[in-house]
Amino acid sequence: MPTLIHLSDLHFGPAYLSHLGDLILKEIETLQPDAVVISGDFTMRARNNEYQAARAYLNQITRPMLTIPGNHDQPLSAPVERLTRPFARYQQHICADTDSTLVAGGLFIVGLNDNRRILPGGFWSSQQRAWLAAQLDRAPRGAIKIVATHHQLMWEGKARPAGFWFPARALAFLAHHGVELVLNGHTHIPSAEQPAHDIVVARAGTSTSSRPRHGNRNAYNLITIDERQISVFVRQYSEPNDAFIAARAYTFPRRSNAF
Ligand SMILES: [Fe+2]
Ligand SMILES: [Fe+2]
Repeated sequence: MPTLIHLSDLHFGPAYLSHLGDLILKEIETLQPDAVVISGDFTMRARNNEYQAARAYLNQITRPMLTIPGNHDQPLSAPVERLTRPFARYQQHICADTDSTLVAGGLFIVGLNDNRRILPGGFWSSQQRAWLAAQLDRAPRGAIKIVATHHQLMWEGKARPAGFWFPARALAFLAHHGVELVLNGHTHIPSAEQPAHDIVVARAGTSTSSRPRHGNRNAYNLITIDERQISVFVRQYSEPNDAFIAARAYTFPRRSNAF
């Protein structure tokens, strides 16, 4: 049964909570997931020292890993660099590719950089859609197809969530290419739903920053997939336990054409 740990919005910098980061590293060692996905916002302001701390952290993760950048990973205080080479620091410290794929434990995961230099993120260009389709169509036979982006595909049932211009079209596109699971971050609010085409859309909260929102606590998602269902466990930090515990669990049937 493939298992996946999904972290997001680590936000190295003044808001980073190192104790929680250390706990999560121990959980990864204990749970030994088939893959770890980190869906962007590694830093607060894309400063080099924040990136160095993020890199030191990633070096301690021993499982197969896929990363994508978030909107905070483009420098704000260096406008020329933001316009000309917005992900140069990300590529130097985190991953040379801003769009990438990972094959691990029966999973085929595609990470798409959906950030924009000035406009809100969440838009996929025609070039990116073509790249995404080509990657998904070359997935190993029988692999479970997953797409990860930083910005949220769904926002509390709204048809046009902030930052994503055509979510219904995106879901139809992903379904056509056999995607069963979408992973998002950015909002700092964990959630899981199955909005259309039997695709599960799971969002991770902020795993380690002091900026959880709307009463949520720091959290990450543990996802398990068996032949019939996809389960998303929101593992939330509990102060009395000084541990991440399963605070919410969601189970969804897998797409009937997937097996
Ligand atoms: Fe964030
Ligand atoms: Fe973000």
